[in-house]
Amino acid sequence: MTQDSSALIASGVAAVQARIPDFPKTVIVLGSGLGRFAAAVSGATTIPFGEIPGFSKSTVVGHSGNLIAGEMEGQRIAVMQGRIHAYEGHGGAAIANPIRILKRLGIERLILTNAAGGLRLEMAPGSLVLIEDHINFSQFNPLIGPNDDSFGPRFPDMTDPYDRILRAKLEQAAQEAGVPLKKGVYVFAIGPNFETAAEIRMYGKLGADIVGMSTVPECLVARHCGIKVAGISIVTNHATGISSEPLTHADTLANAERAGQGLEQLLRTFLRKL
Ligand code: HPA
Repeated sequence: MTQDSSALIASGVAAVQARIPDFPKTVIVLGSGLGRFAAAVSGATTIPFGEIPGFSKSTVVGHSGNLIAGEMEGQRIAVMQGRIHAYEGHGGAAIANPIRILKRLGIERLILTNAAGGLRLEMAPGSLVLIEDHINFSQFNPLIGPNDDSFGPRFPDMTDPYDRILRAKLEQAAQEAGVPLKKGVYVFAIGPNFETAAEIRMYGKLGADIVGMSTVPECLVARHCGIKVAGISIVTNHATGISSEPLTHADTLANAERAGQGLEQLLRTFLRKL
């Protein structure tokens, strides 16, 4: 990592600390259409990404761009309302820097949510899927470049990218809340186009259950610096070729909002277990 990144990260940390001195240990990243969850955070302090050095504003509709800290279910949490995607073309640092700033602020766990396409009939629109593992089917990796040993090793281990204990707690929470939760492997396709039917057939054969354009880069950066990660997808559509309908971002947003209620119930129950 360059000197510039270190300075940027230090000023990002200072900017957040000035407004939120006791930063929460749990951060939830809200995916497409899930932005409304942020309204349920009580006693919230909201910092627009534009006011934090190292955070870039997402260009995607449905991603507002705020860091919000407050309380939910008696737990201090922070929420990232909106995220940066590789397909926006900002480069790896735009994804790595915010997570490294959160690391320096002392976070211990990162809950990544996203909208995804379902590769199997049972992964139907509206399903919630706990990510068990992922396939990075892209040439994109935010860890490419000089390694900053103060964050983590050059060759980070990926035995357990999605933390076993967090996964168990999420499964328990789903049962308690009566929210159906499937499990699956997420394949990261960089986008921005939705996949072709041939690509979806290939991903299915490779062992993926759901497909999306986010989460994996953030997971890689977080695991590199020792943050525990959990991932939950809202299936917004059957992937290309599984359904005969053409895919649109508007449908993604509408279906994510519909399934968002179940996800909020699940996360609330989960937070009570931390
Ligand atoms: N493919 C990739 N990303 C997605 C999809 C999809 O079908 N649905 C929501 N995000």
